[in-house]
Amino acid sequence: MSILRDASILLQLAKGMPREGSHADRLRRFYAPQAQHYDAFRERLLHGRRELIARLPLGPGARVVELGAGTGRNVEFFGERRAEFASIELVDVCTPLLAIARERFSQDTNVKVIETTAEQYQPNEPVDCVYFCYSLSMMANWAAAVGNAVRMLKPGGHIAVVDFYLPDGARRLPIPLAKFWKQWFARDGVHLSDQLLIYLQCQSRTLYVHEGHIRIPYLPVLSAPYMMYVGQRAA
Ligand SMILES: C[S@@+](CC[C@H](N)C(=O)[O-])C[C@H]1O[C@@H](n2cnc3c(N)ncnc32)[C@H](O)[C@@H]1O
Repeated sequence: MSILRDASILLQLAKGMPREGSHADRLRRFYAPQAQHYDAFRERLLHGRRELIARLPLGPGARVVELGAGTGRNVEFFGERRAEFASIELVDVCTPLLAIARERFSQDTNVKVIETTAEQYQPNEPVDCVYFCYSLSMMANWAAAVGNAVRMLKPGGHIAVVDFYLPDGARRLPIPLAKFWKQWFARDGVHLSDQLLIYLQCQSRTLYVHEGHIRIPYLPVLSAPYMMYVGQRAA
């Protein structure tokens, strides 16, 4: 990717998320200027998405929902197995990113793009898996979105999340560093929580947790905390 393309995204990130308007409107204005280059830049920022998706035990006939799906890039991480899924529903509120998802999957009859909130959406029938990639931290009410996701699942279905967060317990960051990350991300509408992982573990049976740090493009030295989670709805 050229430095000029990076510069246009970095400028938008530096300007931050607009503060006025509805949640969907602020997301639209934030992402519209970035939409065409979104995937290439996020490839270097949003780590762990491919790994998370590789961990999902989904076979032919599976019904899958992604909440906060953006451009739909993550669906490609399923590779060839996605053609055998019964349905893949991509939910988001951001019109310019969804336009890219619609174009991307215009030939895929099992992929449906839906413009509504993750807190509200319910599929027509229970699904095998719901996942969130770096979207919960941008949701106005992430706990409601997790609750809604669990309600979509068949008994034994999987919920999976990869996102920035604040580690708790023994991994807790020194207060100034935690404050730095909270403020740094908040400018772009990303709200880090030290309750996210524990909440997921309360809402589902834990199958897999990974907690680590990610290098941020153009930010020397510091690495941001992120986590991956896979859980299962009680049978
Ligand atoms: C950082 S982007 C991640 C997009 C995609 N999951 C990815 O991995 O590239 C966060 C996404 O969450 C969406 N989002 C934020 N709040 C939402 C909500 N309440 N309901 C649905 N989507 C939401 C945004 O519009 C945006 O597309």
